[in-house]
Amino acid sequence: MRTTWTFHSAGQLVFGRNAADKLGDIARRLGVRRVFVVTDPNLLQAGLVDAVHAPLSEAGIVIEVFSGGEPEPSLRAANAAIAAARDFRPDAVVGLGGGSNMDLGKISAVVLTHGGQPLDYAGDDKIPGPILPLLCVPTTAGTGSEMSAAAVLSDTDNQMKVGVLSNYLRPAAAIVDPLLTVSCPPKVTADSGIDALTHAIEAYTAVDNADFPLPPGERSVYQGRHPFGDMLAERAVRLIGAYLRRAVRDGADLEAREGMALGATLAGMAFSNVGVALVHALEYPVGGATHCSHGAGNGLLLPYVMRYNAPARLTAFASLAQLLGEDVTGLGDEQAAERAVAAVERLRADIGIPTRLRDLGVKENQLRPFAEKALGIKRILRVNPRTPTLEDLESILRAAF
Ligand SMILES: NC(=O)c1ccc[n+]([C@@H]2O[C@H](COP(=O)([O-])OP(=O)(O)OC[C@H]3O[C@@H](n4cnc5c(N)ncnc54)[C@H](O)[C@@H]3O)[C@@H](O)[C@H]2O)c1
Ligand SMILES: [Zn+2]
Repeated sequence: MRTTWTFHSAGQLVFGRNAADKLGDIARRLGVRRVFVVTDPNLLQAGLVDAVHAPLSEAGIVIEVFSGGEPEPSLRAANAAIAAARDFRPDAVVGLGGGSNMDLGKISAVVLTHGGQPLDYAGDDKIPGPILPLLCVPTTAGTGSEMSAAAVLSDTDNQMKVGVLSNYLRPAAAIVDPLLTVSCPPKVTADSGIDALTHAIEAYTAVDNADFPLPPGERSVYQGRHPFGDMLAERAVRLIGAYLRRAVRDGADLEAREGMALGATLAGMAFSNVGVALVHALEYPVGGATHCSHGAGNGLLLPYVMRYNAPARLTAFASLAQLLGEDVTGLGDEQAAERAVAAVERLRADIGIPTRLRDLGVKENQLRPFAEKALGIKRILRVNPRTPTLEDLESILRAAF
């Protein structure tokens, strides 16, 4: 039985409207002089690069902007970022964007520091030591990458998402400015927002830390459910339940944007210690094959997996219903848990997330191979409160088909 748990996070969190203005001071305090900014063409066009460029250049920092980021970044994009960073020789990396750009920034910092190729670090705890300082500035309210120990790439050859997990990937600073999310179109708001909800729900309903089945000799960033993660996930579910619809409906609703930014960041702090589970394991092959966004894939799968997991975590699922604003007066845990699933289904429909795998172009004969691939992602599956068989996975996918 495991008896201790730990908590890791970004070195510093600066949160609030106009937080990006503080970037110059933060970088200077870290002793940074040359910064490599990883972003993408959309953010350049939306003028968001100025929000980091201005404070950094006012602080006398030399800046190189790489705008070759892309959604669900491929190894090719990672190699392009690494090559540009090598030429520039930065002493820190800024990831500006959604999870995609922040993760490219993370991978660039790893390879610049330790050499090799991105895939050398795929898996759990494969990075040998500290990396160039990372400053992450999210422009979506979703992935929590600004706090997390993960970086995710698309391995297009194998049609799979590949995760790198290490506490060395935690940013030195996370600068979370809700104003930077205002320009997110409704689909990006919806997809990234339900990803954050998935992080919070998977952390909240994970296997207990005391029962976390880590084989002897293996190390993992994830460690199962513990009180600190629980507290963060609980608050994240409340915030996302209250604000996601509003942020999708009216992108200029600043109270909703701020609530979502906080919810996503807290969810990132929770899942990056406790773990994500079966929804994410199934989304990796689905996203790899269909190229749907990570958030849309997770949002689609979330209620189906909740229904499968609920019997193993009835009390937590019953609490989720309340956190999502459901009236559960007089209901037993089983009925309340079903209310939680129904609440997520309604939210998913209200924000326009697809509800069937066939809507993403999945064919029936892909379900078994998806289940086989998901079964291989042990580092994530062991966080799940139930241990699924191949048949279980296939029947969840069939229900979602
Ligand atoms: N590292 C982690 O801990 C972690 C966790 C979950 C997911 N992920 C990964 O993160 C990626 C998804 O990230 P995401 O959901 O944040 O979306 P994203 O970064 O892929 O962005 C989606 C699109 O929205 C655009 N966009 C982002 N912010 C915008 C803004 N403010 N205004 C206008 N357009 C904007 C981007 O240019 C992009 O085209 C996936 O690759 C996923 O696997 C990483
Ligand atoms: Zn996710």
